[in-house]
Amino acid sequence: MKMPKLPKPFQVVLDPKTGIPRRYERKLVRRLSDLRGFFLDNEFVEGKLARGKNPIIYEVYEIPQSPSEGLFSLACTVLHPGKVGREYYFTKGHFHAKEPTSEVYVGLKGKGMLLLQTRKGMVVHLPLEAGNVVYIPPRWAHRTINTGKGKMVFLAIYPSDAGHDYERIKKSGFAKLVVERGGKSTLISSPSLKK
Ligand code: PA5
Ligand code: NI
Repeated sequence: MKMPKLPKPFQVVLDPKTGIPRRYERKLVRRLSDLRGFFLDNEFVEGKLARGKNPIIYEVYEIPQSPSEGLFSLACTVLHPGKVGREYYFTKGHFHAKEPTSEVYVGLKGKGMLLLQTRKGMVVHLPLEAGNVVYIPPRWAHRTINTGKGKMVFLAIYPSDAGHDYERIKKSGFAKLVVERGGKSTLISSPSLKK
């Protein structure tokens, strides 16, 4: 019987200034056009794109492992500051395709929030900033929101076979939105929640 290849230990060095890993395998860039239909103010998005403006919303620096049980992948997300109308920039959000898998986020820079939601629509929000370690249990969709003035950076550690299911949460939508009101970030119920 062929033995599986023994994975080798490795170290990741995060740049102290930016929080970005000095070495990574893949970099994903998500621009406004990639988040079409995600923000509440569609007109704002389409207007901006029509004027040739397509800002970067976030970047993900990935250190993936092959998708097999017992391995962890790492990913560092840089979520830019900004708003679409009154809504702060956020990541798409997803469930894990392999349901019984958890994830850990380690806040590195900036200031923001982690929004979690179950299939039945239960919602929890937790602060995510430098020094916060947040545990995401299985079966909770998760989205991060940058409510600060600078870049929000965090490291995610997750089973390499967890997979990302974007469709299910996109269909139902997150029940809560994070908007700016009177200069402060405020959590409101989503007016466009599709049942
Ligand atoms: O694994 C994670 O949960 C993160 O690395 C996210 O993938 C990352 O923050 C980008 O968010 P999303 O995958 O929802 O676009
Ligand atoms: Ni995840």
